[in-house]
Amino acid sequence: MQTQHAKIMNSNVDLSYFGMQSSWGVTKHPGGKRATDELALMCCIRPESYVLVVGCGVGATPCFLARKYGCRVMAVDISPEMVEWASKRVGGNKLQKRVECRVADAQALPFGDETFDAVISESVNAFVPNQPKAIHEYVRVTRPGGYVGFNECAWVETPPQELLDFVRTAMNAPTFLTPAGWRNLLTSAQLADVRMQTYRMTMLRQWLDEIAELDRHDWLERTRALWRLTVMTITEPQVRQHIKTMVPSRMVIKNLFKCLGYVICAGKK
Ligand SMILES: C[S@@+](CC[C@H](N)C(=O)[O-])C[C@H]1O[C@@H](n2cnc3c(N)ncnc32)[C@H](O)[C@@H]1O
Repeated sequence: MQTQHAKIMNSNVDLSYFGMQSSWGVTKHPGGKRATDELALMCCIRPESYVLVVGCGVGATPCFLARKYGCRVMAVDISPEMVEWASKRVGGNKLQKRVECRVADAQALPFGDETFDAVISESVNAFVPNQPKAIHEYVRVTRPGGYVGFNECAWVETPPQELLDFVRTAMNAPTFLTPAGWRNLLTSAQLADVRMQTYRMTMLRQWLDEIAELDRHDWLERTRALWRLTVMTITEPQVRQHIKTMVPSRMVIKNLFKCLGYVICAGKK
């Protein structure tokens, strides 16, 4: 049995949770673009806004915001591989004039005070070791009157131990809070007018949201990654063993969608 952060390095493919995502070139958050739109509206993103997207993953949201809202975006992620994906996507969409990508840790942002009109993050803070410190950083780099908002998975019902164990092993040990816990992070950071919507997830809805997020390039990368993984699964016993530990029981899947929802939450500085 592996430790929760263990990586299996094999044929240059890292089989940890984020290693798999960066090898597939696809990251995700609950609710897809629909949820990003809701977060953008809560944070009053407009064409003249300068927006920081923390934990940008492969860059779908920075490109979406720049295209749909016409704003300028700074996109950061702690993983250089993710930033590479994001930069490629920005180039492919010819958005270099409006979107910049950099490696940075949410807990120590390399930006001056009051730089951005809005700071948003989607499915990131659950993976950050010191959540209050990250929120403090978001508030620090936001201008007075600007917004800090996020979309995060939340326990809407108490999870059984088997589900907690699965989430810890398969998903890089996130700290999902309850909706009240997430709201409290924003209110404790002295943000005003904190608004929050809580949603439940269904497997079908989440799957459709994820599919809707993919562009032609994503499909190609997914097919390539799936092929690599299939070959490795057939040829490497170590990979087969790892994949077995990642497959949830039916009970875990049932409880996952019963107990885990998500919140879209924002406050004003
Ligand atoms: C579940 S993915 C979501 C990515 C993206 N927001 C999306 O919706 O597709 C979480 C991302 O957060 C990044 N991340 C984790 N810890 C971070 C930190 N301390 N600072 C910045 N990014 C972080 C990971 O590298 C990963 O790209």
